[in-house]
Amino acid sequence: MSASSGKLAIIGWPVSHSRSPLIHNHWLAARGEAPVYQPYPIDPKDDFRRALEQMAEAGFVGANVTVPHKEAAFNAMDALSAAAEKIGAVNTISFEGGRLRGANTDGDGFVASLDAAMQAASGQDWRRQPALVLGAGGAARAIIVALGAAGVPAIRVVNRSRDKAEALTGLADNMHIDDWSARTRMTEGCGLLVNTTSLGMVGQPALEMPEAALGALCPRALICDIVYAPLETPLLRAARASGHIGVDGLGMLLQQAALSFEIWRGERPPVNAALRDKLIADLAQEA
Ligand code: ATR
Repeated sequence: MSASSGKLAIIGWPVSHSRSPLIHNHWLAARGEAPVYQPYPIDPKDDFRRALEQMAEAGFVGANVTVPHKEAAFNAMDALSAAAEKIGAVNTISFEGGRLRGANTDGDGFVASLDAAMQAASGQDWRRQPALVLGAGGAARAIIVALGAAGVPAIRVVNRSRDKAEALTGLADNMHIDDWSARTRMTEGCGLLVNTTSLGMVGQPALEMPEAALGALCPRALICDIVYAPLETPLLRAARASGHIGVDGLGMLLQQAALSFEIWRGERPPVNAALRDKLIADLAQEA
């Protein structure tokens, strides 16, 4: 089977809610390919490596990985990309004969979503100013690595449990870690604020960021919430009200997917308004 026709999947547990099949099958259709990207649940109790070997035998050539398997995937690979190695998690697997190669496109996808938002709003280059990252989970890890690689001069990190933020030390140069309560004064001079915590998600309390804290960011800073349920979080509403550039979580979702697709099919698919609208319509059906 050639790489251009092999099956693709999103691995998770549960995985039926994933929008990755919609996104990737849209791109496959544009290439005249059948919709071979499918959800693939793997029970965390199962032998993960063995499950991947069964996928290879069944004709899969690539897979994305989501919660709760990104670290298990990291440990099951024969080879890793530099980003996956640094992040310590894998979101993209290539089945290369009997070998498993892992990559992580989350951080680079995040950076691509910032660049797209910056260009669309004719904003300033967010790479030139410090960035403030809220949270210290898996998403924060990928984002911090990518911000470091992008050359951001200082990366400020705060998390409710400070020890989890301290454990991220070394992921990038110029990291500064502080208490969760310091988030309101650490915005000073930042060109980017990104919320990676679950605050603001459906069913969760809003993230409290006083107007003055947003006012201390650089003018027209990027303010990003990486969740997409809801699409317009209280933080993004406040961002727009204070004259900053709001970046929702669909950008990162779409851009990380495009980078995975490129790994498997050798061609970066377009992330355009038509696909974004299709995704928004699909998400609205669930709401
Ligand atoms: P992911 O892997 O998707 O990034 P995660 O590992 O579950 O998600 O991390 C969730 C983040 O939201 C963590 O930074 C968490 O803080 P703790 O490390 O202290 O648990 C943060 N978070 C969750 N609920 C929060 C709350 N009520 N206030 C502040 N931070 C919260």
